[in-house]
Amino acid sequence: MSSVSAVSSSPVPAGDEETALVLDGVTRRFGGLMALSGVSVVLPRGGRLAVIGPNGAGKTTLFRLISGEMRASDGTIRLFGEDVSRVSERVRARRGVSRTFQVSNLFADLSVLDNVRIAAQAGTGRPRRFWWPVRERDDFTVKARTMLERVGLGRRGADRVADLSHGEQRQLEIAIALVVEPRLLLLDEPAAGLSAAERKVLRGLLEELPDGLSMLLIEHDMSLALELVDHVLCLDNGVPLAYGTPDEIRANPAVQAVYLGRRD
Ligand SMILES: Nc1ncnc2c1ncn2[C@@H]1O[C@H](COP(=O)(O)OP(=O)(O)O)[C@@H](O)[C@H]1O
Ligand SMILES: [Mg+2]
Repeated sequence: MSSVSAVSSSPVPAGDEETALVLDGVTRRFGGLMALSGVSVVLPRGGRLAVIGPNGAGKTTLFRLISGEMRASDGTIRLFGEDVSRVSERVRARRGVSRTFQVSNLFADLSVLDNVRIAAQAGTGRPRRFWWPVRERDDFTVKARTMLERVGLGRRGADRVADLSHGEQRQLEIAIALVVEPRLLLLDEPAAGLSAAERKVLRGLLEELPDGLSMLLIEHDMSLALELVDHVLCLDNGVPLAYGTPDEIRANPAVQAVYLGRRD
């Protein structure tokens, strides 16, 4: 069993281009609340890590700190060998970080295709232009269409987002996250609210992610999460409780007590 000390050994290596992510003592306070305390993890390029833990454990906060939406109170975050602790969300996105949200942020009144095209264009760092005309051979349009095919929405491009099912909206969010060709993908509860059939589609999609793409996955459905990753970090009340392979995590009594047993 790899214990938490395996990821909080001091000093944590700085990593290089082949290390997607290094968290070294990452901490976040909200006033008097310790939302995250001393999280240290090394994720190699192509690594897949599930972040699990009960509601309020600090999982989404961790994603916000990595994406740059929010700054850590303490600790260091490195992406591909570069210290980005003080770098903006925009610059981190350019370094290859792409995130889906626990609460959807799609443009409901726009078409499916437009949502992906906007993301593709925004990913280049050029200003967003919402109403540029569809040119079928425009690079962004081609990219967006290819990505929609890949996530199984090839026939839905012209439909309004509001007309998609919940499962299809989740597929679309993944298309949006992938169209910028990220190097590190952060997925926050992508299966939340999905039916069993929709979950199966999502699992297939995540299993087919490119090998070199590194991924962090927050997911309450343990059977889904643990099948898709090589390592798992379990947080409880902002504190790293366990770190190990899926088998090690399944067998960990502390994890079973705080998380698996509770099944929230
Ligand atoms: N912006 C914020 N301001 C104050 N407290 C916050 C904020 N964001 C999260 N928290 C608190 O931090 C803790 C961790 O929240 P969160 O990261 O959303 O947990 P999880 O995603 O694991 O359910 C919770 O107690 C939550 O209420
Ligand atoms: Mg959350």
